[in-house]
Amino acid sequence: MIQTHYLIIGSGVAGLTFALKMATRFPEKKITIITKANAEESNTKYAQGGIAIVTNKLDDSYEKHIQDTLICGDGLCDEKVVHKVITEGPKRLQELINWGAQFDKNGSGNFDLGKEGGHSQNRVVHHKDQTGFEIERAILKQVYLKENITVLPHHFAIDLIVENNNCLGVQVLNQNDKTIFTCLADYTLLASGGIGNVYGHTTNPIIATGDGIAMAYRVQAEIKEMEFIQFHPTALFHNVLGTQFLISEAVRGFGAYLKTKKGYRFMADYDERMELASRDIISQSIDFELKKSGESCVYLDCTHLDLTKFKAHFPMIYEHCLSIGIDIAQDWIPVVPAQHYLCGGIIVDLNGKTSVNRLFACGECSRTGLHGANRLASNSLLEALVFSNAIYDYLSDATDEPSTLAKQTSEVVLQKNRLPLITNSMLSQIKSELQLLMRSNAGIVRNNHDLKKAKHQLNNWLEELVALESNYQGNTAFYELKNMITVGILIVQHSLLREENRGGFFKISKASL
Ligand code: FAD
Ligand code: SIN
Repeated sequence: MIQTHYLIIGSGVAGLTFALKMATRFPEKKITIITKANAEESNTKYAQGGIAIVTNKLDDSYEKHIQDTLICGDGLCDEKVVHKVITEGPKRLQELINWGAQFDKNGSGNFDLGKEGGHSQNRVVHHKDQTGFEIERAILKQVYLKENITVLPHHFAIDLIVENNNCLGVQVLNQNDKTIFTCLADYTLLASGGIGNVYGHTTNPIIATGDGIAMAYRVQAEIKEMEFIQFHPTALFHNVLGTQFLISEAVRGFGAYLKTKKGYRFMADYDERMELASRDIISQSIDFELKKSGESCVYLDCTHLDLTKFKAHFPMIYEHCLSIGIDIAQDWIPVVPAQHYLCGGIIVDLNGKTSVNRLFACGECSRTGLHGANRLASNSLLEALVFSNAIYDYLSDATDEPSTLAKQTSEVVLQKNRLPLITNSMLSQIKSELQLLMRSNAGIVRNNHDLKKAKHQLNNWLEELVALESNYQGNTAFYELKNMITVGILIVQHSLLREENRGGFFKISKASL
């Protein structure tokens, strides 16, 4: 058993920045980060475009960024939250810079600002096309310098321990020696990221399995707006490698065209902003075009762009395409929409508090009200930075008594350690069927008939897994699958309940199919 003051589940931007701040403010307190892969593995690491922040107050303003966010969120953003997040941007950016993160500057020494869909101005601060990698590198380095932070890589959080609506900590699977133990904490932060693998076709890495949301759901934390899944319009399409590699929206901001196989710039038929319409509109338009033509992908044409500048801004994208035989100087890049981001999640207030006492959530697993029905590009790193700071501010003044251990907790854990281990062959087929089901029945365009079918199937799988759990000790694959099915159920339930199409949510009646 481990005891700690602050327990953080996840080592992306949300978890690490919170840890750093608490460790600096309270050098006498113990901070523990549990993370299920190598410490740097996270959605954060793969962020390309950058962080949307108003730094050029001559052409841009907070008001313009706020308006762009509200328009993109299609009437469902919480305006108070939008105002808070956007106006705090410059302060949070400065902290990243103080921690050693570097961002590209132009010849005049100002930030070189990129543009992405839905933004009326160039305002995306970036580090080439590897902004997330640079942020993760810088903050993880700082975390390792703090003596009061313990990072436990390859440790999987299984379930929250909650009594009388108080979170006391979490049950943890040590993935190295396969033992399960309890970690007790005064305060617990879920910073466990996204859900991409529920769909399979995703820009997210394999760690994104919605664990934090499923854990929070099991302890009755309030969860909202799971129907608002953001599909990124331009994941690289590759028959063998799949859709995991992202072609940043900043490439369209740089001037690339979206075309059909025949070379038609189809966005002209859907939105006057063309390739820089918001993601929901572009993904829905591509989906429509593909269903109409029967093709597998559309194309991003960069052949008219300045190659030298392109290579300087997007070196990773350029090299990756070249490595699979696509020379962007002459070839169009095949792209399709893929799951990218979850706008809803665990409901938190302005202090990052969930509906369970002593339990906080931050980053992609949380639902703050910033994104509404659709997230504006490059607003999520900013959201994580602002809310991890809000939780830090709140806890710096907290006066609650430290939590106490409930007796039965350790008994439950010991019992699990005595069961035989589950094998992965039992799970891999359900996982691929789940991903296929979510893509076909809960994808970009949904209908109630298919959603109901999916709900039935998902509930059956969950029952199967719960039955297995009483006879076997689970492993990472088992717990992830159970969590992905739970997240699938939430997406489907919330999609059935929503009657009005907004932002990234689009449902049609079966009759119009
Ligand atoms: P993550 O960075 O995903 O971290 C989650 C952590 O939790 C990981 O360390 C994971 O291992 C751990 N974890 C999860 N479950 C468990 C468990 N059960 N036990 C222990 N540990 C667990 N946003 C922008 O604003 N700008 C961009 O340019 C941008 N580009 C993107 C490009 C790509 C390809 C992707 C995938 C996302 C992009 N995003 C971008 C979104 C953004 O990167 C994420 O929303 C953000 O980084 C999420 O940060 P986080 O800290 O909440 O979660
Ligand atoms: C991208 O670079 O296209 C991703 C930006 C984001 O998801 O905010």
